[in-house]
Amino acid sequence: MNDKSVVKPWGGRFTEATDVFVEAFTASVEFDRRMYKQDIRGSIAHATMLSKVGVLTDDEKNSIIQGLDQVQAEIEAGEFEWSIALEDIHMNIESRLTKKIGDAGKKLHTGRSRNDQVATDMRLYLRDEIDEIAIELKRLQNALIDLAEREVNTILPGFTHLQVAQPISFGHHMLAWFENLQRDAERLQDCRKRVNVLPLGAAALAGTTYPIDRHFTAKLLEFEKVAENSLDAVSDRDFILEFCFVAAQVMTHLSRYSEELVLWVSQQFDFIEMGDSFCTGSSIMPQKKNPDVPELIRGKAGRTNGNLVAMLTLMKSQPFAYNKDNQEDKEPLFDSIDTLKASLRVFADMIPTVKVKRENMRAAAMKGFSTATDLADYLVKKGIPFRDSHEIVGKAVRYGIDNEKDLGEMSLGELQQFSAIIEEDIYLVLTPEGSCAARDHFGGTAPNQVEQAISRARQRIA
Ligand code: ARG
Repeated sequence: MNDKSVVKPWGGRFTEATDVFVEAFTASVEFDRRMYKQDIRGSIAHATMLSKVGVLTDDEKNSIIQGLDQVQAEIEAGEFEWSIALEDIHMNIESRLTKKIGDAGKKLHTGRSRNDQVATDMRLYLRDEIDEIAIELKRLQNALIDLAEREVNTILPGFTHLQVAQPISFGHHMLAWFENLQRDAERLQDCRKRVNVLPLGAAALAGTTYPIDRHFTAKLLEFEKVAENSLDAVSDRDFILEFCFVAAQVMTHLSRYSEELVLWVSQQFDFIEMGDSFCTGSSIMPQKKNPDVPELIRGKAGRTNGNLVAMLTLMKSQPFAYNKDNQEDKEPLFDSIDTLKASLRVFADMIPTVKVKRENMRAAAMKGFSTATDLADYLVKKGIPFRDSHEIVGKAVRYGIDNEKDLGEMSLGELQQFSAIIEEDIYLVLTPEGSCAARDHFGGTAPNQVEQAISRARQRIA
């Protein structure tokens, strides 16, 4: 890739060759070449616009487009020779184009700078990736709804402080995950709006002296808006920061779900089993089946969070407009994209392999006095003030701890020691099913509410 004979497109004012190590140090082609399609698409739009306003002839434009199509084919066939001496994707492609078509190739950069070119490429690239990520996100949401539907009537102990709190429907729990991701999907689309703005035409920073038609270029590239200010256009990376935040947020969500999955497959919880194809064994302990996929996702959230901080730090001291610092925006962004896409994909594939051990979940929900609030509510409904009933139930729980009995396992006589108001119907609310079914309002865990939430969720992502 290192070629001394390469003529630098900016070489005119230089008398000495670039230091070889500096050349490699300042080059970005190793990582920005993944934007080759967007770079070519942007150049075709730019050339088309230049010919429309009379800066290029039709022949020149056609020759540029043909040449760029050939360059793209070479790249895709793996025949393109990338050069570090040509620094980045932009100069690599332009130089190859000029070799192929001659002088017309040298005119492509008229009225343009790599500063607005790279900003355009990044926006086109990120827009494409956002659209793919949105599809993966929705696929995972659908998998969660399907699992929720299968397990509407499955009882899970709901936790606070990781202590058994109240029985809930496992379907309800899956829908909690769904809601996180629904907000993430909205955030992603909101971010896309600010990605979808054309910087091209800002040139180096001040605009250009040619009679360009930026709105025409925007239309060709399907940008919704044209950047209003040329300095802002070349120096703004907010759209990358926003995306890195969304990626970190989604990964943080996936990391929380992963943490729950890891707990649930453990021998201590034993709530679920995961497909063999998503687990791995141990090289020393033959009995092991480890939840490597969720563990790795939990770990990878560290990268996306780090990338967000890297981007914030990259931007915080830059004077306007473009600075070479901005070349450092690519690796964190690409890493966040790759990490997020792969994690969503594997998570969406893994969820349908989850087998719920319903008996174990229910048994766990029976522990830890999870229906204590139900007993308190029962007393309140019979006229006892909530604070008094809290006190009464607290005493019943104390008795249960001392005698190793859950509330639902106590006889009516035992319960009546704490309040004479308690009658036979108490057993309806002391079961986890009764407790769950009683939370029967919008957003509650009663199975019939969960069913309605499932059908609303399906409509919301339709
Ligand atoms: N490779 C550069 C980057 O990623 C392209 C823009 C270079 N512009 C410049 N004036 N050196 O930011």
